Amino acid sequence: MMTHQPAFCCFVLSLMLLIGGSEAKFSWKPCDDSPAGSALNVLQLSLTPDPIQTDAFAYADFEAGITRNLTAPLTMSLEINKIVHLFWLYKTEISVPCMSWLGDYGIGSCTYEVCEMCDHFYQLYGCPAEYTDNGIPCTCPFRAGVYSSLVRPRIPVYLDTSSVPLVPNMFLNGDYRTTVRLSDSTGIVGCIEYENSITNI
Ligand SMILES: *[C@@H]1O[C@H](CO)[C@@H](O)[C@H](O)[C@H]1NC(C)=O
Repeated sequence: MMTHQPAFCCFVLSLMLLIGGSEAKFSWKPCDDSPAGSALNVLQLSLTPDPIQTDAFAYADFEAGITRNLTAPLTMSLEINKIVHLFWLYKTEISVPCMSWLGDYGIGSCTYEVCEMCDHFYQLYGCPAEYTDNGIPCTCPFRAGVYSSLVRPRIPVYLDTSSVPLVPNMFLNGDYRTTVRLSDSTGIVGCIEYENSITNI
């Protein structure tokens, strides 16, 4: 999967991955093990439509503050788990592996070098109006400040599953729980956890 637009990588790339559908409403929270006083504070995050659909546009709205300048190396690691309901009685989670052969950077529970990835998308697509109008940088460094998509809302995210082989595609529908951890040379920058659903109907 990939966006048709460069992403504000920290947020959007994490949202468009093999996450995903049936019952869970989108919800998010800081990670339980987030250190107090993390540099990244997510204040608001939402995704529409809910559930998001494959091969269609979804839109992300967010507001987040960062308390110090973030520069390379900036690492984002995703832990994606599919929530599986067995016989309506028992709920378990299956880890989605990093499928490094999909997309430009791999899809699944992968680790990404954010600044390098942002440069890559910037060179391919430039920095579109949804970002520039909101004052959201498309490349590193991310300066200390408050960023939001609320000025001119709706960062588009396209869930392109054309590169996903047929059989995994059939299992894409479902509920997912994802942990996104961002760290730089000084340690943890921030961590959030969210649940969402994907439907491919
Ligand atoms: C971030 O960097 C800019 C310029 O590179 C500098 O003026 C500013 O003081 C830095 N901010 C922090 C919080 O370190």
